[in-house]
Amino acid sequence: MPLSYDVAIIGGGPGGYVAAIRAAQLGFNTVCIDDWKNAKGKSSLGGACVNVGCIPSKALLESSENYERVLHKFADHGIVAKSVELDLAKMLARKDKIVDQLTSGVAFLFRKNKVTFMPGHGHFVSGGEAYQIEVVEGDKRESISAKHVIIATGSVPRALSVAPVDNALILDNVGALSMPKVPNRLGVIGAGVIGLEMGTVWQRLGSEVTILEAMPEFLPAVDEQVAAEAFKIFSKTQKLNIRLDVSIKSIKTTKDGVNVTFTNKGRDAELEVDKLIVAVGRAPNTTGLNLEAIGLKTDARGFVEVDEHCKTQAPGVYAIGDVVRGPMLAHKAFEEGVVAAERIAGQSSHLNLMTVPWVIYTAPEVAWVGQSEQQLKAAGIGYRAGSFPFSANGRAKGLGETSGFVKMIADAGSDRILGVHIIGPFASELISEAVVAMEFGASSEDIALIIHAHPSLSEVFHEAALAVDNRSMHI
Ligand code: FAD
Ligand code: NAI
Repeated sequence: MPLSYDVAIIGGGPGGYVAAIRAAQLGFNTVCIDDWKNAKGKSSLGGACVNVGCIPSKALLESSENYERVLHKFADHGIVAKSVELDLAKMLARKDKIVDQLTSGVAFLFRKNKVTFMPGHGHFVSGGEAYQIEVVEGDKRESISAKHVIIATGSVPRALSVAPVDNALILDNVGALSMPKVPNRLGVIGAGVIGLEMGTVWQRLGSEVTILEAMPEFLPAVDEQVAAEAFKIFSKTQKLNIRLDVSIKSIKTTKDGVNVTFTNKGRDAELEVDKLIVAVGRAPNTTGLNLEAIGLKTDARGFVEVDEHCKTQAPGVYAIGDVVRGPMLAHKAFEEGVVAAERIAGQSSHLNLMTVPWVIYTAPEVAWVGQSEQQLKAAGIGYRAGSFPFSANGRAKGLGETSGFVKMIADAGSDRILGVHIIGPFASELISEAVVAMEFGASSEDIALIIHAHPSLSEVFHEAALAVDNRSMHI
């Protein structure tokens, strides 16, 4: 007899592990199946986010920013640092330690909440009254059955056929997070979130970075004014060489590195680099899941189809996170995990995809929520926009981080906030106030009426709200 559970979750990333904890909190006998193995071949919960995504990338962004500060920014504060050295091995070890702590943390939370963890690759065998799932771990095969299943199998890097990843010379996010030596010349294909974050890390550590982007516009999903400011700062201050409107023709590895030929705005060009990162998006992962056994199909782009509550067409089966529509973000996956578990428990939980915040952890950071000016124009929605620069804020001056601005967009008639777009210091933290405001249906005037601490970066958000009504104080 296979072991039977109330809820089986396939995938132990941000979506899956949160769904498992919530299901167990709700009293369900819960199992989470996950096949992730770390470099030592050991199971490592937390999915792409904890192992090779959000967490290690932010650890390296912080370390490399400190390195840049000590080299180029401390002098302004009257701090003279002599003979600064980079110990890259230690920097990478620190990052690995943080990853280990967090993956062990997920395992601890499973034990605390009495979630059963099954290491191995899960696939559907059959449906019916209960779903039969086989879990394969090396030579071992084990079957379980469950009344409810949550598919949380995440995503994998999208492959570029001309640039096969070997994680020696041509790298995906895994290789990009663990180069043992700083390459003198680093190429990146794709000026998206990974390309910009990883480009920033290695540029700060000493690489000459060239980013090749297919689209003629820079960050087309971002508000145009913010994207234009970001392009200017990343190119001039951060010294990322970003080339737009690129079409890759060929990529050859040599004994010295990688040779890339491409056209740039129609003209032939060539790039020689020591390492090349490929970051051209991620694809939903349903490999070997055998969805057909339970009558499910993926859509044309490979996503598992779900309704607004993450329900698939198979009764009792939900799908969450990167494997379904919507932004591929850890916090969106977390929330969908909660919604799926609570829906199984008969609750009417929901999530609002319109208020999912985005953050790009570059220098300065870029963050936004809601609609951009170009989206509102295209939809014919009347709006008023106000912005305020960090350069007019005392706290930003104290920090020595004065580039960028906060922009607020409100409905022309009701004044309800429709979008907030930030480029500047701690944008990742500031955006939360905008999310709360939008979730509560706030108007720009509501924010204008709220007292913000002085001196703080949040005053820039306050001033942007005042600017919607043309009444900023400090400019
Ligand atoms: P995943 O994290 O992909 O987890 C899926 C898990 O399921 C994996 O462990 C996988 O091995 C396992 N699995 C798959 N199939 C099976 C199977 N059949 N049987 C058993 N196990 C299976 N997002 C942010 O919000 N903020 C960030 O700062 C951020 N930074 C990122 C940086 C990088 C470099 C990358 C690559 C991504 C980043 N992301 C970030 C995106 C974030 O990592 C994903 O959105 C998030 O991990 C999705 O969670 P998930 O649970 O859907 O899937
Ligand atoms: P992305 O979708 O952000 O960017 C990919 C870029 O590659 C796009 O600009 C695209 O136009 C370009 N591109 C595609 N094909 C190309 C080609 N052949 N030649 C040149 N350019 C090409 O994807 P990315 O950076 O791989 O990240 C994947 C996802 O991971 C993100 O979309 C995001 O959801 C998540 N992520 C989130 C982070 C965060 O929240 N801070 C950090 C990193 C990743």
